[in-house]
Amino acid sequence: CRAVVLISGSGSNLQTFLDAAANAECEYAVEAVISNKADAYGLTRAQNAGVSTEVLSHKDFADRDSFDRAMVKLIDSYEPDLVILAGFMRILTPDFVRHYSGRLLNIHPSLLPKYQGLHTHKRALEAGDDEHGATVHFVTEELDGGPPILQAAVPIETGDTPELLAQRVLVQEHKIYPQVAQWFAQGRLRMVGDRAEFDGELL
Ligand code: GRF
Repeated sequence: CRAVVLISGSGSNLQTFLDAAANAECEYAVEAVISNKADAYGLTRAQNAGVSTEVLSHKDFADRDSFDRAMVKLIDSYEPDLVILAGFMRILTPDFVRHYSGRLLNIHPSLLPKYQGLHTHKRALEAGDDEHGATVHFVTEELDGGPPILQAAVPIETGDTPELLAQRVLVQEHKIYPQVAQWFAQGRLRMVGDRAEFDGELL
């Protein structure tokens, strides 16, 4: 299974894919890492792993449509079976999402459908929730609204700050995201209509 990973920043999730792909049981390979920011640390992680990197800055394009069209062209040059969004901080056009329908994954730092959008850790704390977490989902046209595949919950502790909570959630992200990529590569995961299916069972 050929995977292309899109990032904008640190790339700690990307690192877990690079680490997993280096081991024999892993059924996917990271063919390229593409960033919309030239200074994203994840690009260094990819280079250290010997993976091709590309930078395509949204600032070089007049609008979202032309940026996304160039992105599709670049991604498709690597002929991916799977496109993984790992901290890619751009809203995608419907054309982009449709083009990769059923093979486009994202991780969102909340227990979706709770807290779509930004500042999820702060919002969970302010709401007085007793747990928070992360969700890996197929991407559809609705922002953070695509079918959930796997979630990990983290208890909220007294004295938590958004930063502390984010760190504990990130530890869980690093477990569930490569797991989902492996399932996808093994052919165990599909998007069927607006649902995810795992081993033939609708989730
Ligand atoms: C993570 O919090 C992820 O849930 C969100 O963006 C962040 C990416 O972190 N989508 P990293 O770049 O993988 O370290």
